[in-house]
Amino acid sequence: MASPTEFYEAVVIGGGPAGITVVGNLLEQKVEPILWVDNAFDGGRINRCYREVPSNTKVALFIEYATAVAPFRKIVSNTPSRSRWEEPSESDGVAVSGKPDKLQALRSLDPVKGCQLSHAADMLLMLTEGLSKTAGVFARKVRVTEATLDESAQKWTVNLANTANSSASTTPVVTNRLIMCTGSSPNNSPLPVEIPSLHNLDLDCALSPTLLSTTLSPLGPTSIAVVGASHSAILVLMNLYKLASTSKPDLRITWLTRHKLRYAEQRDGWILRDNTGLKGEAAEWARDNLEPDTMPNSDVSKYIAKVAYEAGAEKETYEQHLQEMDFYVQAIGYSRDPIPTLKTSEGREIEPVFDHDNGHFEYAGNGEGKLQKLPGLFGAGIAWPARVVDPEGNVEYAVGFFKFMKHIKKVVGTWI
Ligand SMILES: Cc1cc2nc3c(=O)[nH]c(=O)nc-3n(C[C@H](O)[C@H](O)[C@H](O)COP(=O)(O)OP(=O)(O)OC[C@H]3O[C@@H](n4cnc5c(N)ncnc54)[C@H](O)[C@@H]3O)c2cc1C
Ligand SMILES: NC(=O)c1ccc[n+]([C@@H]2O[C@H](COP(=O)([O-])OP(=O)(O)OC[C@H]3O[C@@H](n4cnc5c(N)ncnc54)[C@H](OP(=O)(O)O)[C@@H]3O)[C@@H](O)[C@H]2O)c1
Repeated sequence: MASPTEFYEAVVIGGGPAGITVVGNLLEQKVEPILWVDNAFDGGRINRCYREVPSNTKVALFIEYATAVAPFRKIVSNTPSRSRWEEPSESDGVAVSGKPDKLQALRSLDPVKGCQLSHAADMLLMLTEGLSKTAGVFARKVRVTEATLDESAQKWTVNLANTANSSASTTPVVTNRLIMCTGSSPNNSPLPVEIPSLHNLDLDCALSPTLLSTTLSPLGPTSIAVVGASHSAILVLMNLYKLASTSKPDLRITWLTRHKLRYAEQRDGWILRDNTGLKGEAAEWARDNLEPDTMPNSDVSKYIAKVAYEAGAEKETYEQHLQEMDFYVQAIGYSRDPIPTLKTSEGREIEPVFDHDNGHFEYAGNGEGKLQKLPGLFGAGIAWPARVVDPEGNVEYAVGFFKFMKHIKKVVGTWI
């Protein structure tokens, strides 16, 4: 699909849940043409890496996400259907045409429970296909490498590069708005100790029972250390335990944790630790098998040994416990993926400073050091999340499909 012009009202970088959310919201605001850029257009990391992971959000929220803006509803049903802000009707889930909408797989699940992320990923792929065919959207399988701001015209010139399997045009384009939905990957910084016999196992691999089994099952007796105690760490421990207690009884796991397990807790009308606490299947399994009062009597303790330490004591703890290990997995959070090089047309490098309240950025402007608004650059998604403060004053960053949707709906007006 080629644009009739090299000028776009918006360039959206990223085809994960955040990019999909932003394209849907811009279309709803009648901002077009939009150039939408991704390396692969395969639903981002949820589809690429986490199809086997159980969701920590309810099925109902995935359905609400997929029907939250008119362009999504059109794709889902081929005709506009109701949104969550309208009264439910008897025909909910059935398009005006009388045909069931495209969310039947999700609708067949229990709405108040979680599901395998494969269901959410399939929904993302369906929206991706629909948005790519929507008038006003030009989807290109390329990579954004660099963007240059003309400070007086307040426009960005965006450089594109071919991905290995794309022959799309890479002529630079000009836009009023550049929106980074560029995503994050697991932190895997070097350990503070050097143990030559110790091999790193990637978190993405450890979160997939299939990959984990393919990697570890052919080996003889194997020991593995898991660092961390948040959602990812618990799911890795769950996967390893399932492997050890079924097909690989010679697997031994050491769990290195520097804090107690933290759970999301329902309060009156809000959720404590909504973004950082354990939820769903991971929470249930952790309560039943990893708490000081449940672990000793759980079958899990045949395979998993817990080592608790204080933050700051990593070096000595690892020196003591990792010497004899074959593998380690770090489940210690995610970091932003590298972003395109940003500069002004005078060649000054731009170091963008994100504003978590509205998705805008600031920069040092004319080089005088004082931060000022960076025109036309915005961010969304796991790399650029909204900052939320709960009624007890705790600060968190809102990461999740429906959280991206709520935030973008709120701030998109300020991007136009
Ligand atoms: C293990 C795990 C489980 C999760 N489970 C849930 C859940 O159950 N429910 C929920 O609501 N949320 C969940 N989340 C949170 C969140 O929905 C995901 O992290 C989601 O993948 C974030 O979407 P994103 O679009 O910000 O980033 P990504 O999915 O990482 O997408 C970013 C995309 O941008 C592309 N890109 C980056 N730079 C460029 C460039 N320069 N040019 C072209 N393309 C580029 C990347 O290739 C990628 O396709 C989970 C997160 C993790 C890590
Ligand atoms: N669907 C699912 O079930 C699922 C699964 C995984 C992830 N997710 C989502 O993905 C996002 C990231 O989650 P996450 O669980 O990977 O990470 P996270 O919530 O960002 O938590 C990172 C954890 O790593 C610990 N940590 C950081 N540095 C450490 C170090 N050097 N040594 C030991 N521990 C360290 C932190 O502990 P301190 O507090 O002590 O720093 C914290 O507990 C979240 O939005 C989450 O909801 C969802």
